[in-house]
Amino acid sequence: MNEPIKKIAVLTSGGDAPGMNAAIRAVVRACTYYRIDCLGIYRGYQGLIEGDFKPFTAREVSNIINKGGTVLQSARSEEFKTLEGRQKAFENLKEAGVGGLVIIGGDGTFTGGLKFIEEFNFPIVGIPGTIDNDIYGTDKTIGYDTALNTVVEAIDKIRDTASSHNRLFFIEVMGRDAGFIALNTGIGAGAEEILIPEKNLGLDRLEESLKVSKKSGKSSSIVVVSEGDKIGKNVFELADYIKEKYPFYDIRVSVLGHMQRGGSPSCYDRVLASRLGVAAVETLLDRSTGVMVGVTNNQVSTVGLNKAIKMNNDINIELLKVAEITSV
Ligand code: F6P
Repeated sequence: MNEPIKKIAVLTSGGDAPGMNAAIRAVVRACTYYRIDCLGIYRGYQGLIEGDFKPFTAREVSNIINKGGTVLQSARSEEFKTLEGRQKAFENLKEAGVGGLVIIGGDGTFTGGLKFIEEFNFPIVGIPGTIDNDIYGTDKTIGYDTALNTVVEAIDKIRDTASSHNRLFFIEVMGRDAGFIALNTGIGAGAEEILIPEKNLGLDRLEESLKVSKKSGKSSSIVVVSEGDKIGKNVFELADYIKEKYPFYDIRVSVLGHMQRGGSPSCYDRVLASRLGVAAVETLLDRSTGVMVGVTNNQVSTVGLNKAIKMNNDINIELLKVAEITSV
């Protein structure tokens, strides 16, 4: 694999995230800039197995920097988890003359990429694209900033109706295993309590906090619950539990769901995605493989794909304290 790279392919995989299009655009344009060809692969690894791809030129990615979702579409491919599937994908890449692959996604995407490198020694560079922000080696993942703004806007609206009716709202936000969205939007939207998987505060603490809120004269309350929370009850069970013990609460549940993944990317996400798209192409051209490009302390950085998925980003303890202090 030492001949110069003449063609790079790009795919998006796993859950989509706002800013993925900006990253695709940057990859395609960096290829044009460095005078190499670019191939867009549809539907992630599944499209790679099925040969669902076409050449992408700079003009084909016009007017997508502002669009949510991914023009390449995404999928969670079961077939790529089999050796047969990966073998087919490798043959398709060879046949198309592809010398390097850019994969945009989260931990599932990177796990698949690592396996592929291990088996076929194919050059791959990852770009972190997930609203969860649960990838190590970058200050933020693409889509996270936009999702925060989307969620804060939604909670603000729920707050209007909660205070008009003196209600207690449990709002579930995304974050399969990580509480970054819940913690930051909880602070940003002024939630009374925030439940995250990284720190199980327990039911007692929740009850205590609701009592304190009531005592301090608050007539309505917002509890932001991360979907991955480890309290042992889902958001509906949690609401039922509180209702049973404290029947005077007028409780409602709101699950924000997939609307958190949609929408036009924020400026931050567009810039981040543009930087990482360029960096991914440059990294492949430098003959690096098995790494993810990220932005750390505002500098483009690289980290091994294995580290990116295995190591955790720590929850900022200071934020937990700020949440506690500002919700009195
Ligand atoms: O990983 C991103 C994410 O949006 C998680 O927050 C969420 O748990 C999951 O994807 C939902 O996946 P799906 O779209 O397959 O339901």
